Amino acid sequence: MEPVSSGCKRFAGRTVVVLGGSSGIGRASALAFAQEGAFVIVTGRDPDTLAQVRSDLGDDGQVFRSDISDIAATQALMQQIKAEHGRIDVLFVNAGIGAFRTIEQVDEAFYDQMFAVNLKGPYFAVKHAIELMGEGGSIVLTSSMGHCTGIPGNSVYGASKAGLRALARTFGAELVKRGIRVNCFSPGPIDTPLITRGEMSEAEIADFRQMICEQVPMGRFGTAQEAARSVLYLASDDSSYVTGIDLLVDGGAVSF
Ligand SMILES: NC(=O)c1ccc[n+]([C@@H]2O[C@H](COP(=O)([O-])OP(=O)(O)OC[C@H]3O[C@@H](n4cnc5c(N)ncnc54)[C@H](OP(=O)(O)O)[C@@H]3O)[C@@H](O)[C@H]2O)c1
Repeated sequence: MEPVSSGCKRFAGRTVVVLGGSSGIGRASALAFAQEGAFVIVTGRDPDTLAQVRSDLGDDGQVFRSDISDIAATQALMQQIKAEHGRIDVLFVNAGIGAFRTIEQVDEAFYDQMFAVNLKGPYFAVKHAIELMGEGGSIVLTSSMGHCTGIPGNSVYGASKAGLRALARTFGAELVKRGIRVNCFSPGPIDTPLITRGEMSEAEIADFRQMICEQVPMGRFGTAQEAARSVLYLASDDSSYVTGIDLLVDGGAVSF
């Protein structure tokens, strides 16, 4: 796997929670946190991918099967983390789902599910996690470049991710008095299983890949490891004077 860390131990002795850390960006970040000395607690729903991360983390981590849209389950998870570890130093709220549907194709169930996973679950995860966090704590929320672009078919996903961007600002302002920083991380196209999990056929995925490579100034997808490096920056003391921002990691897609 492409290395993420330069060998520093920025998270030695720290407890890091990655909600949605069993695949893609979350998995790459979880492994990088562990490489840099953290004890890493990872959640997801799929027992197979969770077992793989558990094996990769070894003694440096723990996994829990937990659905972020289940608020009571997240609250219980935080209570268990409190009982076992006492505190959280870094909370990376990364769980998310995506699918393209035009307004004509969207129904209420699709809308509710997207918002439950991408926005409501993350909101209450932060609410329950901050009780375990204190001075020097860092929260990173995974949004998307979709929160600030008008991509056809992306209305529900983009709106849910725009909510996360707003939360980074307001949580950042509210939690500054507790010494907790809150930042938003907005990936552009990153090569992860997310692309194949959606509702696109193989032919549509191939067209989508080609379109991305033509439209992104850097001419390619980012890797999960490139995304993880930005997450670790926001989570670490390297960004100690940074709060409330949105860090776009998109090969220039939004900025040019
Ligand atoms: N890849 C991109 O191009 C891209 C671009 C912009 C933003 N993002 C965002 O980046 C984040 C990570 O995506 P990825 O590309 O790494 O995709 P991924 O490989 O599909 O990973 C998503 C992670 O979230 C977990 N997850 C999904 N629904 C969950 C739920 N209800 N409860 C708990 N965990 C859940 C997944 O585990 P389970 O499925 O086992 O639950 C998995 O660990 C997402 O928030 C996504 O919206 C990705």
